[in-house]
Amino acid sequence: MKEAVFITFEGPDGSGKTTQSKMLYEELLRQGRPAIWTREPGGTKSGRKIRSMLLDDPGVELSPETELFLFAADRAQHIAEIIRPALDAGKIVICDRYMDSTTAYQSGGRGFPVEMIVALNEYSTGGLRPDLTFLLDVPSGIGLKRAAGRKTDKFEQESLVFHQRVRQKYLDLAQSDSRIVVLDGSAPIKTIFQVILTYLQNNCSIINK
Ligand SMILES: Nc1ncnc2c1ncn2[C@@H]1O[C@H](COP(=O)(O)OP(=O)(O)O)[C@@H](O)[C@H]1O
Ligand SMILES: [Mg+2]
Repeated sequence: MKEAVFITFEGPDGSGKTTQSKMLYEELLRQGRPAIWTREPGGTKSGRKIRSMLLDDPGVELSPETELFLFAADRAQHIAEIIRPALDAGKIVICDRYMDSTTAYQSGGRGFPVEMIVALNEYSTGGLRPDLTFLLDVPSGIGLKRAAGRKTDKFEQESLVFHQRVRQKYLDLAQSDSRIVVLDGSAPIKTIFQVILTYLQNNCSIINK
């Protein structure tokens, strides 16, 4: 595998992405590695406005097409403003959600043709793919139950069937791409993190043993 410097965390709502990605970021800092943690949507100033429209603002109604293009716009800006400059400066970038979320939610969940989503992802990222992606897989009921403990966003209010389609699309993606490592997101937090560390220790050199 190419040295992992751009690492993304993916998975359904409540699967543990934010928890695990922040733990990895903190471990990298502890080991003295130059790293940043960022997320989508909302990794930039304009992105935070987009995020609010996409997820939080109850007064904003978006068509599925508008939603799709706003995620793509958020990502293009995020890459230009945060991800590319950090990679160019030699930093490790840990990103909580990225292009696979668009495939899982907008193709799996909303039903847009996957070929169109793949093309849009390619265009909006300028071809910038993660070196490595951890997919936290959990049964949809578990993820939603965990997420219900916080203020839920617009996607978390979607039906169980929607979330099952999202989960399945993530698993399909993982099957077709060795960049994506599937983890059992229903295991305890510490157990999952240990699997992540061991994977990185065995497959790249960003983490000390
Ligand atoms: N492996 C786990 N087992 C039990 N609870 C977890 C686990 N991972 C995360 N949680 C809890 O579930 C909730 C959602 O986790 P979070 O990391 O925010 O998920 P995501 O970012 O994927 O939506 C949080 O309250 C978190 O503490
Ligand atoms: Mg999160």
